[in-house]
Amino acid sequence: MAIPHSHAIVGCGRVAPNHVDGFRSVPDWTVAWACDRAAATATAFAAEHGIPRVSTDWRELLDDPALTSVSVTVDHRQHAELAIAFLEAGKHVLVEKPMATDSADAHRMVACAAANDRLLSVVAQHRYDPLVVAVRDWVREGLLGELLYVSVNLQSSRPQSYYADSYWRGTLDGEGGSALINQGYHCLDTVRWICGDLDVRAAVTRTKVLADVIETEETLSALLTADGVPVTMNVTVASSVDWRTRIEVVGALGSVTFDLDHPGSLHHWSGSAELQRRVAAEQARTATTEAPGIDYYGISHRRQIADFAQSVRGGRPMLSTARDAIGTLDTVLGLYERSASAKALR
Ligand SMILES: NC(=O)c1ccc[n+]([C@@H]2O[C@H](COP(=O)([O-])OP(=O)(O)OC[C@H]3O[C@@H](n4cnc5c(N)ncnc54)[C@H](O)[C@@H]3O)[C@@H](O)[C@H]2O)c1
Repeated sequence: MAIPHSHAIVGCGRVAPNHVDGFRSVPDWTVAWACDRAAATATAFAAEHGIPRVSTDWRELLDDPALTSVSVTVDHRQHAELAIAFLEAGKHVLVEKPMATDSADAHRMVACAAANDRLLSVVAQHRYDPLVVAVRDWVREGLLGELLYVSVNLQSSRPQSYYADSYWRGTLDGEGGSALINQGYHCLDTVRWICGDLDVRAAVTRTKVLADVIETEETLSALLTADGVPVTMNVTVASSVDWRTRIEVVGALGSVTFDLDHPGSLHHWSGSAELQRRVAAEQARTATTEAPGIDYYGISHRRQIADFAQSVRGGRPMLSTARDAIGTLDTVLGLYERSASAKALR
């Protein structure tokens, strides 16, 4: 018989419902704690989601022997401190992206998980999107031929209130950046997942529309390479479009254009009969089996959490490892470093 497991949510903000949904979908897992340092937030969240225990101090949870795992869903700056404390207390940890705001902290987190024989996972839900998995397979099987270039774009709209009403967004200390480390992160991580490690070649940032409310970048444009293949990237939080990702992978034998917005739309494809057949199969599967997601974050938190639970139970290693998440963080930090040495655009 499977052992029952209990889970805590630390940080009951915007993304927290995806974690409740994910852990609730795992048989034998219950969500036992809602913890938020804002008492009203913790209480309201617990009531809304039917979570029995409420806390305003995450340290209280360290001593709960029944607690198996924790979602760390607070601002970026605190990810490392909380994840390490819970790992040291013997809990398995699922931390939201980005893993940390500092590479040394990310390495300490991975070392701490290993030293305590606990699982640490960093949310990278789009790695689990069936369309992303399919495109990754097509690229790796050579169905697109030699890659010529990849283009990644994210338009998103974050009004002044999104930053003004938050204690951490738009601040260098709390968020560590904006358009790239928060929103663009998903696109960058997905391209790393499909194409492999990325080298930073050039990056520039600009902040104009939101200059009164953020000290971070509203737009970043960059050139990277994946094993020599050029990857261009534009991300912004100041567009009029609420949220639209667009990734184009162009090869000598075929190309695909898709987005990460639920359920993952394939906008364009061309290539061999085999690629056409695989695209048709993926589209038929999407049309019949995809459940609606929670907001534009998609449904794949559920998939990653199922993978996390399976790994905690002693099954196979997770599809995507915390060690690999360091690579995405280092790419993000490398882009910021490069943009700082370039002249910010006015
Ligand atoms: N994977 C995704 O699609 C996705 C989507 C949105 C956010 N995120 C990530 O999730 C994380 C949280 O983002 P959000 O939008 O939910 O933030 P949020 O500001 O809406 O919520 C954060 C909550 O954490 C609480 N908090 C802060 N410090 C705390 C502490 N020490 N103890 C207990 N509670 C504390 C705050 O009071 C707040 O309620 C960020 O890393 C963000 O980048 C990921």
